[in-house]
Amino acid sequence: MSQPAVPQFTSASGARIPAIGFGTSQLGDCHDVVAKALELGYRHIDTAWKYGSEKGVGIGIRASGVPREEIFLTTKVSHEYLRAGDFARSVDESLANLQVDYVDMLHVHWPTVDQIPMEETMAALAKAKREGKTRHIGVANFNIALVEEAIRVCPEPLDTLQAEYHPYLDQSKVLAACRRLGLVFTAYCPLARGRVFGDPVLTAIAARKERSLAQVVLRWLMQQGNISAIPRSANPHHMAESLQVFDFELSADEMARISALARADGRIANPQGRAPAWD
Ligand SMILES: NC(=O)c1ccc[n+]([C@@H]2O[C@H](COP(=O)([O-])OP(=O)(O)OC[C@H]3O[C@@H](n4cnc5c(N)ncnc54)[C@H](OP(=O)(O)O)[C@@H]3O)[C@@H](O)[C@H]2O)c1
Repeated sequence: MSQPAVPQFTSASGARIPAIGFGTSQLGDCHDVVAKALELGYRHIDTAWKYGSEKGVGIGIRASGVPREEIFLTTKVSHEYLRAGDFARSVDESLANLQVDYVDMLHVHWPTVDQIPMEETMAALAKAKREGKTRHIGVANFNIALVEEAIRVCPEPLDTLQAEYHPYLDQSKVLAACRRLGLVFTAYCPLARGRVFGDPVLTAIAARKERSLAQVVLRWLMQQGNISAIPRSANPHHMAESLQVFDFELSADEMARISALARADGRIANPQGRAPAWD
């Protein structure tokens, strides 16, 4: 069987990001789950101040015994804190919650809706990097025009855009923009928050490949290239299988059939008043 040439890391501007990461929203006090994820081999953990999971992530990391430097740790500053002073306080609170000196990736969680100048937020993001509080920086939920503006005004290079991506949402324009702009696309809700399960097309492909449906969806993301995905699970069996997506290959026809599942109402995270005009 030919070995598919899909790297298990994605990279941009020197950031080396494990292509399959572990999401922690809605997990509550998640220290056991995070420790389990690390034991199973995850080395990329995604959290955010807003999720309330930072303390659990920090406890889980320490309980796992995995050295801090082996873990790619992401957190995010919430949209309420995009003024420079608020931003700096939020970063410090996140580091204290996580009980770490630095994170590997710091994101602006959603673009501003309060007339806060992009320059101010991007300067605060760059300052966190220059102070060693994060190794890399990125944005989440920005549309392409906002990403371009952020890159233009940010004193430090951006490395990632984190945005929703799964088979029910066409993100081809955004993925192309990430490639053009040198950003890794970090795919959140990669399993459409569970909505993919039971899909007849995905079920048929999974049966043919003798793989789980989740593995087929994650493989479809990996095979597009330049994508890191962060599935969330509280089930150790699911957690383990989501890591096993680098030893099989989808055909061009299977890739196309999965991409064709995209639909106009496929988007899940679309908070009114906070979401930008999506591409
Ligand atoms: N930047 C943002 O604004 C933003 C927004 C949303 C999410 N995110 C990030 O993205 C992460 C993932 O998104 P999400 O949590 O919304 O949803 P998701 O990962 O798309 O889906 C999670 C659901 O899939 C199930 N699941 C996971 N792996 C499975 C497997 N191998 N087989 C069967 N079921 C499986 C989980 O159930 P079990 O627990 O039973 O496995 C859970 O119900 C979040 O946790 C968060 O870190 C970021």
